[in-house]
Amino acid sequence: MPDTVPTIVLYGRASFAAEQSLASIARRLAAETSEPPAIRWAFADLTGPSLPDVLDALETEGTREAVVVPCMVPADPSLSVWLAGALSQWRADRDASLAVRLAAPVEASLDLAAAVTASLAGPATDVALTKPSLGKPGWSKIPEHGRQLFFCVGARCLHRSAEPLWQHLRARMKTHRALAAGPKRVMCARVSCLYPCNLGPLMTVHPDGTWYGALDRTALDRIVDEHLLGDRPVTEHVVHVTASRTESDGA
Ligand code: FES
Repeated sequence: MPDTVPTIVLYGRASFAAEQSLASIARRLAAETSEPPAIRWAFADLTGPSLPDVLDALETEGTREAVVVPCMVPADPSLSVWLAGALSQWRADRDASLAVRLAAPVEASLDLAAAVTASLAGPATDVALTKPSLGKPGWSKIPEHGRQLFFCVGARCLHRSAEPLWQHLRARMKTHRALAAGPKRVMCARVSCLYPCNLGPLMTVHPDGTWYGALDRTALDRIVDEHLLGDRPVTEHVVHVTASRTESDGA
């Protein structure tokens, strides 16, 4: 493979169905050409590899150029507006030699009316054949817990290494039985954006109303030990405390 051929980076969401996953799209692209280009994929949110992770690897490998192809359908307008600047920031931060180009979202090239027509031409399931249900019996029970933690794995936080930090946090918490059962149990949820993206990676801890930003592994270790176990927020990493919480604490 001559390195003058740009590497294609498919950029999409993690929730594609199996046949439309980024990996299967990459396989089909490779199968449809006699000289397949190098193809990687990166996820916009929820899980890794993130786009910076993939670009870091290409830079290390000495790749000269990458073309990022946004594969979300529907396209995400705010992500599209943000992405060019974020990729430019990635190059500036690393003084990267890898040239990066951003292709138009694939949605612009899709004939959705034709896709709907093809769908209508195929089989359709009569839902009356399925037992009516909105959930499972166990889904009515709220587990005992003392805190809820919301960790952002939205596109902008993922760009700042949120996914490996989430994995680190979960692994660290699993070493403490007190956080898995009883009054100190923490219910953890990943969320797609908490809004002050510039302060990411971000997470909140409730009912304390504590917002933590610019997280790294050291900060997470301290938050687990000092806040979740010791009930003392790690003030150096607090970027905000929810107002109602501040007022009630100060009252
Ligand atoms: S993507 Fe994390 S706060 Fe917006």
